[in-house]
Amino acid sequence: MPPFSRHFLGSAPSVTEARRFVTALLGRSPMAQTAELIVSELATNAIHHTASGRFGGRFIVTVQAQPKRAWLAVVDEGGLSTPKCFRPSPEGEGGRGLFLVSELSTDWGIWGDENGRTVWATLVAGQEIPWT
Ligand SMILES: Nc1ncnc2c1ncn2[C@@H]1O[C@H](COP(=O)(O)OP(=O)(O)OP(=O)(O)O)[C@@H](O)[C@H]1O
Ligand SMILES: [Mg+2]
Repeated sequence: MPPFSRHFLGSAPSVTEARRFVTALLGRSPMAQTAELIVSELATNAIHHTASGRFGGRFIVTVQAQPKRAWLAVVDEGGLSTPKCFRPSPEGEGGRGLFLVSELSTDWGIWGDENGRTVWATLVAGQEIPWT
């Protein structure tokens, strides 16, 4: 399958739309639910921590699915914040999203700078969380 990308408005309802975009592309794959969760976290971060969440801001979701692996990416409009992956502490309230992404994905990373960042993750079929 070729890569598919879509723009979303940088507001909360777009997180649901981004999840549906992923499901539409990965529907029957066992990777679908994990992919949905990852894109959900990354889209939420784009809205909360980057210029994508400002009035008129947007972010892009890209999915490239192959039978046994998938590439997921969220491109944001940048800003002063830098993505940090924290190991969550019991007392801490936030900062679990990227840790979750790192645990759920086979590999993940960040590309870019304050002008715009891509946070990406890869999945390999058979290594996803066994959802019931
Ligand atoms: N795309 C991004 N661009 C810039 N900074 C980011 C981005 N994503 C995350 N961050 C920064 O990294 C921190 C950690 O992100 P993470 O998703 O782990 O936690 P959170 O969004 O603060 O809380 P949670 O996801 O648990 O609700 C954020 O607080 C933010 O400062
Ligand atoms: Mg987050």
